[in-house]
Amino acid sequence: MSLMDNDIIRNEFNLQTDLIHLNHAGVSPWPVRTLHVVQAFAEENAVMGSSRYPEWLNVETTLRRQLQKIINAPTIDDIALLKNTSEALSVVAYGLDWSKGDNIVSSDQEFPSNRIVWESLSEKGVEFREADLTMAGSPEDSLFSLVDDNTRMITVSSVQFSTGLKMDLERIGKFCKDRGLLFCVDAIQSVGALHFDVQNINADFVMADGHKWMLGPEGLALFYCHPDARDRLKLHQYGWHMVETVGDFDRREWTAANSARRFECGSPNILGIHALSASLSLFLEVGMDTVEREVLKRSEYLFDRIKSSPELELITSHESGRYAGIVTFKRNDVDNVALYEYLMKNRVLCAPRSGGVRFSPHFYTSYEQLDAAMDLVMKFVP
Ligand SMILES: Cc1ncc(COP(=O)(O)O)c(C=O)c1O
Repeated sequence: MSLMDNDIIRNEFNLQTDLIHLNHAGVSPWPVRTLHVVQAFAEENAVMGSSRYPEWLNVETTLRRQLQKIINAPTIDDIALLKNTSEALSVVAYGLDWSKGDNIVSSDQEFPSNRIVWESLSEKGVEFREADLTMAGSPEDSLFSLVDDNTRMITVSSVQFSTGLKMDLERIGKFCKDRGLLFCVDAIQSVGALHFDVQNINADFVMADGHKWMLGPEGLALFYCHPDARDRLKLHQYGWHMVETVGDFDRREWTAANSARRFECGSPNILGIHALSASLSLFLEVGMDTVEREVLKRSEYLFDRIKSSPELELITSHESGRYAGIVTFKRNDVDNVALYEYLMKNRVLCAPRSGGVRFSPHFYTSYEQLDAAMDLVMKFVP
């Protein structure tokens, strides 16, 4: 049975029929099951208040287990639920104890959240180094060429938000492990699109918000932290929820939780938790093998269409292992901002990136929609 014959998929996506959603690298639509769970949760709040709070906490535990599976974390204790990717990066940047002269190596293609926070450490005398990923050799070699005796960490996106370049995380993780460097991965453009294995890549820190490839709401992110690295992070936010004996309000002595819950200072985002858990249940039913295969097939389909038109130039690498769900390209005979505006006006949801247009279909996007979007690209007359 092909994936699109599957009832799960057909019943789960209810976008307006004239809307072609190719922006899963931006903000994604929710599956129907997530809509239903949020509707039910809203009704429950309005009529029963928090009567079922213990059940809500069970959903929170379920979500941690789902996230554990999706990133292959050893235990749910390694996962904190934070507001967003940027917050998690800030927890790392301001948790570590830096010395004047330390440096952090990254790339010149990072989303601003994985640059600004490190640049802000210049006040402490820490240098942020950006490798040119297009340099001769591999993107990883470019990173490694900037590492010296004062390097403390490599931080990269698993897939670059604009070009769609997929990094070889296993290789970077091994390099870091062999040299005692910390390894931080902004995985927002991978988790939910591709297999992700924090153990295989030897990551110390991994963060990803739920509103892109995980098809969840904005404002709820996973933060994975290796236990050894966790103990190196100084805490900056405190409250009732981050202590070891959570819920014992009469107790005056406290210690920070042993688990990554120590980074969650107060009340959880229970609404977001319900939504993200519902969305992730779809991935676990479909299976990440299928999701990854279908995501890559759609990128390859777009590559073929783009390569067959001489006016079009592919910006994303089509080398095997170097792409994920993002396909960025330009039309060389037109103004690409105007092309982007034309596509949006014609209800193709996409993004202007790298001087071209970024398409990011997900595993359920139909090939008819990809064809319709590419036809519009070619039809555009300035
Ligand atoms: C690679 C990357 N990192 C971080 C972010 C921002 O994430 P958040 O809003 O969860 O902080 C984005 C959003 O586009 C992104 O593409």
